[in-house]
Amino acid sequence: MSDQQKLRSHDWFGRKDKDGIIYRSWMKNQGMPNDLFDGRPVIGICNTFSELTPCNAHFREHAEMVKRGVLEAGGFPLEFPVMSLGETLLKPTAMLFRNLASMDTEESIRGNPIDGVVLLTGCDKTTPSTVMGAASVGLPTIVVPGGPMLNGKYKGQEIGSGTHVWKFDEDMKTGKMTAEDCEFAESCMSRSIGHCMTMGTASTMACMVESLGLTLPGAAAIPAADSRKKQMAQLSGRRIVEMVRENLTIDKILTREAFENAIVVNAAVGGSSNFIIHLLAIAGRMGVPLALEDFDTIGSKIPMLLNLMPSGKYLMEDFYYAGGLPVILNELKDHLHKKVVTVTGKNHHENVRENCSCYNEQVIGTLASPFMPEAGCVVLKGNLALNGAVMKPSAATPALMKHRGRAVVFESIEDYHARIDSPDLDIDESCVMVLKYVGPVGYPGMAEVGNMALPKKLLQKGVTDMVRISDGRMSGTAYGTVVLHVSPESAIGGTLALVQNGDMIELDVEERRLHLDVSEEALSARRAAWVAPTPAASRGYVSLYIKHVLGADKGADLDFLQGSSGSTVTRDSH
Ligand code: FES
Ligand code: MG
Repeated sequence: MSDQQKLRSHDWFGRKDKDGIIYRSWMKNQGMPNDLFDGRPVIGICNTFSELTPCNAHFREHAEMVKRGVLEAGGFPLEFPVMSLGETLLKPTAMLFRNLASMDTEESIRGNPIDGVVLLTGCDKTTPSTVMGAASVGLPTIVVPGGPMLNGKYKGQEIGSGTHVWKFDEDMKTGKMTAEDCEFAESCMSRSIGHCMTMGTASTMACMVESLGLTLPGAAAIPAADSRKKQMAQLSGRRIVEMVRENLTIDKILTREAFENAIVVNAAVGGSSNFIIHLLAIAGRMGVPLALEDFDTIGSKIPMLLNLMPSGKYLMEDFYYAGGLPVILNELKDHLHKKVVTVTGKNHHENVRENCSCYNEQVIGTLASPFMPEAGCVVLKGNLALNGAVMKPSAATPALMKHRGRAVVFESIEDYHARIDSPDLDIDESCVMVLKYVGPVGYPGMAEVGNMALPKKLLQKGVTDMVRISDGRMSGTAYGTVVLHVSPESAIGGTLALVQNGDMIELDVEERRLHLDVSEEALSARRAAWVAPTPAASRGYVSLYIKHVLGADKGADLDFLQGSSGSTVTRDSH
């Protein structure tokens, strides 16, 4: 078959020389017969399985389903592991290692006899890291999102991953919940396989890859425990073999228009603010120009069509039963670019038009009657964020969107923890909480600490939200009037580093303004006296990361990882 000449795996398995013996013979120790090496498409199954990533711990089964599909379509499936990043256990933050995991994925694909790749992804960073890596190689690529957990159920109440952790924490502080209740609630919240079932970052990433056209239609919302998830994995295995035969490479899918579509969809589903940083990083790998401002320009006026926590009421299981992302894609069809190809070889409209009925209008709304008129993230600028900062209005308090308040400054995350619940802390609900040195270089890794819990004494008074500003991120499951991703970050001398207790700060979301009301002269004097913090590491990956990480406004990738190196490797290993 002519594939034999074309496919890159032929350079390994099709060889008639000494190297060919080496490339085939050792593979045969796994019991692989001769005909698997006859030039058929070799499909890499990139597995982010790990028991330390509970959200992805069911992926061995998904890999088996993908293999079935690949074999059925006449391909040769080969599963390989890559670094798996779990949000809940990994310190100091999984985000520190997103770029490392992307390098692992990229080199594992390029260096091996792979013609097309299936990415098994779930927990937050496992999606962007593997997509970034695959994007820098450029082979046909399909994503199988691992699926959300079933809805949390606690004493007759629906509870959401993450979102209810913040609530339970507040309830413990105010005495509304006992430690025993909380322990019980832990089991109620995470009661099945899968990732966070709120519209946190994992669900956001699943919607992102579906809206980018990297999954089969409808893949994002299927719960991990639903057998249709396995069908989706098997069908994806079949499809990737065809994609290789069609040479439908990832660069044909990830165009500027596809990124714009993803921004529109993310706004409509009330997706995480982390979406911004990951989409920027993926675009950077593709060489597609995408700016921080694009998220505001393209997304901020899009109405919210999905009523999921943390912005709304329901959970991913409800989303799936209501029809899933195809319903949203269909509703948004006039806002989406039509001439974009997806992994099916067709555009979204062609993919979803026969399968887009909404079965629950409490969960999925319409453009005529949305859950919120404007839902997308906004980009703020001002002397406090010269390169920009972001906010998710759908998770914020309307009354705080225009606010002037006195800064209460925490010089580090440790300083915050040490003082936040002190009865002596000079703070009231009109103040603006400022947290420094939690950005990419500062933390390091830009941890999800931006949604600082409010002071206990204000929670006890019944205060539910305050303006908070930092150069960190916030969990996609969190909520509040939280200004995030302030850039340039404090650790490299951004204005945020110069804020002092008592300074007045002005937030005006409508004007997209974030202003520190301190004169230029005073700021210059403070800047001259500012001492950069000691770098967080002097060796190893963390040291490399600190030296090369780009600002949050650029996606926080490592500078030398931007772009693609293609899939060609010219030298053999022997
Ligand atoms: Fe893995 Fe939320 S902790 S998706
Ligand atoms: Mg998260």
